[in-house]
Amino acid sequence: MRLAEKNYFLYKDKLAIDDIILKIDEINSSINSVKKDIIKAINEDNFTKLEAYLKDYSEIISQIQKNNTENAKLETKLRESGRRLREFSSTITHLERIHVNELILNSKRILLHSFWIILLSSIIISHLISRKILQSLKLIEKMTLSISEGNFKTLKDIKSNDECGSVIKALNFMANELRNREEQLIQSKKLASIGVMTAGVAHELTNPLNNISMIAQTYLELYDNLSRNDRIEFMNKVESETDRMKEIVKNFLDFSKPKEPHLKQTDINLVIQKAYKLMQNMLYISNIDTQLELDESLPKIFIDENQIQQVLVNLITNAAQAMTKNGKLHIKSSLDKNKNYIEIYITDTGKGIPPELLPHIFDPFFTTKGEGGTGLGLSVSYGIIKNHKGDISVESKVGKGTTFTIRLPIYNGEEDKTNG
Ligand SMILES: Nc1ncnc2c1ncn2[C@@H]1O[C@H](COP(=O)(O)OP(=O)(O)O)[C@@H](O)[C@H]1O
Ligand SMILES: [Mg+2]
Repeated sequence: MRLAEKNYFLYKDKLAIDDIILKIDEINSSINSVKKDIIKAINEDNFTKLEAYLKDYSEIISQIQKNNTENAKLETKLRESGRRLREFSSTITHLERIHVNELILNSKRILLHSFWIILLSSIIISHLISRKILQSLKLIEKMTLSISEGNFKTLKDIKSNDECGSVIKALNFMANELRNREEQLIQSKKLASIGVMTAGVAHELTNPLNNISMIAQTYLELYDNLSRNDRIEFMNKVESETDRMKEIVKNFLDFSKPKEPHLKQTDINLVIQKAYKLMQNMLYISNIDTQLELDESLPKIFIDENQIQQVLVNLITNAAQAMTKNGKLHIKSSLDKNKNYIEIYITDTGKGIPPELLPHIFDPFFTTKGEGGTGLGLSVSYGIIKNHKGDISVESKVGKGTTFTIRLPIYNGEEDKTNG
């Protein structure tokens, strides 16, 4: 605009005036389009001044255009107004520079703040992570302490899949293994005490042997006076006493030499049904109401059918013996909630086991049945289930009844062997 003004003064070029007017319009429209930003940069007062100076300048130009003749007064006015405008615009430029500097300073400040925020949040996050790791480490420490004290408890609900989670899983595995080993150790200690137990067996055998001897003596003494029926009765007594001896010897052998199980893929429900069939008559005679609740969807598992059947027969026999008339026997098979085990529950409504006897019922020769028991049924069963890598446990309430639970693993390593 001022260039055109210079042209006008130098060459008295009338066209330069038109040019100036055009420029003024351009300036006005561009100022209006970014009015807000300009106000922000140079403030409201300066903006009003700028507008006033421009207006003044454009009014003088309009007068010059209208006048058409040279007018020295107007020209001086125009020079004056142009100078004011130039000076004012350099002030504005200065102000703008200050504003830009401020902007730069602000961005620097924001950058610095973000840096501190990022630094602080990373400190907090790393603190949280290390706290989580510490918590897991504390758990691991507690677990190792409890293992060293002989409590092979496992930690449940491991959610994390990180290193700590794997360590806890490995520790759980170790605790399980240790518990199994300990139980095996206890069982082998029991086996080691077989030598001592033999005396027990000898004692067990003494009673029926004495009985047989007495029966034989009486039989001989009374022989001439005995009727045919009497003789048959005597012989029946001898037979039942020998049966009892056979039973004692068989149980003892089963106990002392736990046979390696011959594992075969088997439907456990069929085994339960077979055991039940064997016992059905006895249960019927004892007036026991039996209910079978078998889960048909159970997978087949690798077991020694005969051995498991023996366990079931032992448990059913015990249940029947614990109940007087009108007892109820409930046999149930199901899958445990983690789908790792098949569970068999044998529940009776018998007299129950007093809590102080519970720790002993799996001991060999422990019996509360006097001459009627050998005390080997449960210890043999325990050995068999342990050989199957399973569990047998008991819950009982005196006067209410007893539940024995057998847990057999669905996967016990046999699959690998059969698959090659
Ligand atoms: N279902 C049961 N109800 C009550 N007591 C039981 C039951 N099962 C086992 N017992 C107790 O455990 C003992 C040991 O059982 P076991 O080893 O089978 O030997 P036995 O049957 O020859 O006595 C039994 O004498 C009895 O006291
Ligand atoms: Mg028994």
